[in-house]
Amino acid sequence: MIITFILLIICIQAKLKLKTHSISNHQIKLKRHTTINSVPLDDQGNIIYYINVSFGTPSQIFSIVVDTGSVTTWISNQTCEGCIFPRFDPNISITLQQANEDHSINYNIGSLSGKFVQDYVGLPNGNLNVSMKFMLANVFTMPGIKFQGLLGLSSYNDRQNIFEYGYQQKQLETSLFGLDLNQNPEESFLFYNNFSDDYLDQVIWMPNVLNHQWSMKVYGFFVNEIDLTDKITLQNGTVALMDSGSSCLWLDEEIINYMLHRYILANCINNYACPCNSPLYPNLNIYLAGVKIEITSEHYMIPSNNGYCKPCLQKAGSTTHDYTILGDPAMQTIISIFDKENQQFGVYQGNKLHNLLIFQIIQISMITIQLIALCLFCYKYYQYK
Ligand SMILES: *[C@@H]1O[C@H](CO)[C@@H](O)[C@H](O)[C@H]1NC(C)=O
Ligand SMILES: *[C@@H]1O[C@H](CO)[C@@H](O)[C@H](O)[C@H]1NC(C)=O
Ligand SMILES: *[C@@H]1O[C@H](CO)[C@@H](O)[C@H](O)[C@H]1NC(C)=O
Ligand SMILES: *[C@@H]1O[C@H](CO)[C@@H](O)[C@H](O)[C@H]1NC(C)=O
Ligand SMILES: *[C@@H]1O[C@H](CO)[C@@H](O)[C@H](O)[C@H]1NC(C)=O
Ligand SMILES: *[C@@H]1O[C@H](CO)[C@@H](O)[C@H](O)[C@H]1NC(C)=O
Repeated sequence: MIITFILLIICIQAKLKLKTHSISNHQIKLKRHTTINSVPLDDQGNIIYYINVSFGTPSQIFSIVVDTGSVTTWISNQTCEGCIFPRFDPNISITLQQANEDHSINYNIGSLSGKFVQDYVGLPNGNLNVSMKFMLANVFTMPGIKFQGLLGLSSYNDRQNIFEYGYQQKQLETSLFGLDLNQNPEESFLFYNNFSDDYLDQVIWMPNVLNHQWSMKVYGFFVNEIDLTDKITLQNGTVALMDSGSSCLWLDEEIINYMLHRYILANCINNYACPCNSPLYPNLNIYLAGVKIEITSEHYMIPSNNGYCKPCLQKAGSTTHDYTILGDPAMQTIISIFDKENQQFGVYQGNKLHNLLIFQIIQISMITIQLIALCLFCYKYYQYK
């Protein structure tokens, strides 16, 4: 009887443990967003992430692109040519200061031009309201692109981002910020301000190699287990830009060809009509200094038409200055921390996929323990009967 009782306790404890495990995994996620200020992002199709930002007094709110690949923060001016609505009305803001400095920006898909102004800029949770220089766009020539504006977060020291202004104006404890980009339906966040030592202890830091872009040295490119590192022909191909503003991966032609022609396209009707899932699609593993970025087809295959998907893989070249660009498909696999002051880029807890795997193993072993306990319990029960 006592043995049965003990087994019953083991059984219950195993069940409780399983429960606390799934809860504690959730808590870890919550915890890293409660001690740190975090803002939810609006994930459009897993290829573009918007954030609500307020400009001026009283505040006018815009949903703008989170872009770690751009230095300038901009929104559309009231009479902007080619901009979409809503637009910023400078007449309404009583705190607006004209800087009267012309500025234009060239992206690889078009350009825009306008003028710098200075005004209050804030994030929706209300604890950040900084006086900041940003651009009002007056001419927008990017056909088909519908941005209300953009939050510039690149590593370029020439201009300060919202978190550096916040730190200087003593509203924040640090100018660090992080991105936890996920795929729908999982939520995505931008977080900042209060990084505990505990949290930072779990960040693997890597030096930024170019001063104008978040850029990491790449030590290895592997498609499945095949090492293609020596095949890279691009001049800057072993430098990867960490760019939340790029929807796709921009890779050396050799890697693209290898992935497309050896594994992907054989499943497709054409380049734009592929099944969304196939066990034949390869993984792309990229080795940075201390961190392995493991990109699966779940990340690089994006919806196209009629239930089909297309590979979001682009050939790097002159438009990217020969750099590899790790856009959203790569950013989604890590929690990235940006330290502009020290020009370093960090990844929290190594590889997210890896952690998920460990969690699943724990879960499976807990179920196994339960089953064993149950069997023993039944066996003993019938023995006593
Ligand atoms: C941005 O603000 C709009 C309007 O208040 C709201 O509907 C939307 O959910 C907000 N988006 C995010 C990501 O918080
Ligand atoms: C802003 O005010 C100026 C004069 O103060 C006026 O000429 C202009 O039309 C106003 N613009 C808008 C968009 O209301
Ligand atoms: C914004 O547009 C208004 C109205 O056209 C114009 O008067 C103003 O100079 C523009 N502001 C900037 C910074 O370009
Ligand atoms: C931001 O701060 C300025 C100056 O203190 C103030 O005028 C403005 O109302 C504040 N804006 C918001 C949205 O809180
Ligand atoms: C930051 O977090 C620490 C603990 O993580 C807490 O003690 C401290 O009060 C927090 N500071 C702010 C400004 O929230
Ligand atoms: C490689 O990077 C250097 C330094 O950033 C840049 O000047 C050069 O144009 C790049 N090479 C190519 C082919 O774009």
